[in-house]
Amino acid sequence: MSAHTQTAASEIDQYLKGQEEKGMLRFITCGSVDDGKSTLIGRLLWDSKLLFEDQLATLTAESKRVGTQGGDIDYALLLDGLQAEREQGITIDVAYRFFATDKRKFIVADTPGHEQYTRNMVTGASTADIAVILIDARKGILTQTQRHSFLVSLIGIRKVVLAINKMDLVEFKEEIFNKITKDYQEFAGQLGFETIQPIPLSALKGDNITAKSENTPWYNGPALLDFLETVQINETKLDQPFRMPVQWVNRPNLDFRGFSGTIASGTIRVGEGIVEPSSGQTSTVKEIVTFDGNLEEAFAGQAVTITLNDEIDISRGDMLCALQDRPATADQFEAKLVWMNEEELLPSRNYILKLGSSSTLARISSLKYKVNVNTLEHTATKTLALNEIGICNLALDKAISFDPYAENRQTGSFILIDRFSNATVGAGVIDFALRRADNIHWQSVDIHKEARSEQKGQKASVLWFTGLSGSGKSTIANLVEKKLHSKGKHTYLLDGDNVRHGLNKDLGFTDADRVENIRRVAETSRLFVDAGLITLVSFISPFRSERQMARGLLEDGEFLEVFVDTPLEICEERDIKGLYAKARAGEIKNFTGIDSSYEVPENAEIIIDGSKASAEDAADQIIGYLETKGFI
Ligand code: ADX
Repeated sequence: MSAHTQTAASEIDQYLKGQEEKGMLRFITCGSVDDGKSTLIGRLLWDSKLLFEDQLATLTAESKRVGTQGGDIDYALLLDGLQAEREQGITIDVAYRFFATDKRKFIVADTPGHEQYTRNMVTGASTADIAVILIDARKGILTQTQRHSFLVSLIGIRKVVLAINKMDLVEFKEEIFNKITKDYQEFAGQLGFETIQPIPLSALKGDNITAKSENTPWYNGPALLDFLETVQINETKLDQPFRMPVQWVNRPNLDFRGFSGTIASGTIRVGEGIVEPSSGQTSTVKEIVTFDGNLEEAFAGQAVTITLNDEIDISRGDMLCALQDRPATADQFEAKLVWMNEEELLPSRNYILKLGSSSTLARISSLKYKVNVNTLEHTATKTLALNEIGICNLALDKAISFDPYAENRQTGSFILIDRFSNATVGAGVIDFALRRADNIHWQSVDIHKEARSEQKGQKASVLWFTGLSGSGKSTIANLVEKKLHSKGKHTYLLDGDNVRHGLNKDLGFTDADRVENIRRVAETSRLFVDAGLITLVSFISPFRSERQMARGLLEDGEFLEVFVDTPLEICEERDIKGLYAKARAGEIKNFTGIDSSYEVPENAEIIIDGSKASAEDAADQIIGYLETKGFI
């Protein structure tokens, strides 16, 4: 580094340090345009305009330093909390505005207020310290006030300003202010807020915005800006235990091995002990390396590379944590989930769960109830639609480390991603770990799959037949089983219609039930493969995601997808069970191919042309495949 850039860097550091000390308050405004929200934000921005320009200069400097935009302003620096969503390309309609006074810097998240925008509000609130809830003095507490308050409490905000606006239109009457305040306090009792600060305002006229108004001599509290400038934000990330999700392992040469990431909470010093909680390995910090040189100490929000005094096995997705104050590590937990996708939640489906830098497959093992955001009522449900909020248990493929959201917002929240579309479909906050799995261990057995298969002179596998109803799956599967049997092979055939008479008797044909149907039969087929059998599965299994899940339960090469590709017209013409006729007549709902979708396989090992091949030829084609590949 040249002397010149060194001075510049240290000046910027100095400046940033000053800004840091000045403190930053993030808040969200809740209310609709009619409540005067835009006027209120506009006024706050206007009254601090000079400093706003000052801040723009800082932002420019910061952007240059970080360099993501090649020296241009990177407004995204203001949106750090949204990294994961932005990476997933989700469009969230939240505007962030930045302003400052000489006491504090502010980031306002401004979200549309309508009901269908729950997900926007949740996103906007997720990084906020306090919420400003706008009320039209003429209207008092509305359903939307209750909804906003509930969402704000869900996201962990403990301080709210009750901004009773348009006081000029009710002649600045104290009784009206008192009545609304009382109504709100009664309602909000159940939401667990620490502070509720009511302020009588007129955003339009400027009363009690930046200075106390003469129109409200009976009001003893602060003006809005005063309150925002002085409110204590006790939940600082620095007071929390040290947590750093490892983004990547930095290993430029054999002599250096560092763990890079952004500190999510707490502080860390050279010499301090750390633990990687999922493996329980511990060590002490050797160095804290940054782009600008080594540090003795680092804080929440800083991006660092940590080296350790011991060789321990840590990879991306692990978390470095305070030795004395560890997070939970579990593969099941209870959470509140906000559904963000147009397509409804399918509880048994595997979604990618991302928390910090770790990701794993997860499904909703039980959906306890959903909350009506307007009335706070609980209702039983089998699914969640866009913007609905449910309380559920999640089961993960592997244990991950986390904190309850109430203790740590950074390490207690997660998103769910669809495996195929890669869209963010849900966001959740963790209530607590479920310990039910703690006392269940794998029982070791002496006879293994290989021994069982070998005794039977075959390689255990699953032949997974998929295709429309009437495509010929079951007829072909039946013939294949007969041929295998006559060759002395050991088999079992799981057929959709048959399994639905027993194990899956409780399931119908909604998407959610079909997903559960396939989950159960996939687990069953895994057990049969473990038993050493050549297992034939004949289910419509219309969704790619679940066929992929079934494949994932088995070892590489054990799962053979057989797509019986018979066009709908032919299946319908055959209509062996008369079901297509009924479906067309509207007597059967959700019939595959008619009013329920079938997702064509993309990488099936075997494709049968159901419009040409006879069942006999198809069966021979499959047997031929098994012989060539050495399964039999
Ligand atoms: S899956 O979609 O969940 O995989 P599965 O293979 O178990 O379906 O069951 C399909 C069989 O159930 C069909 O062959 C048909 O006989 C019968 N059936 C009854 N109702 C429906 C429906 N709505 N859609 C598809 N198949 C149905």
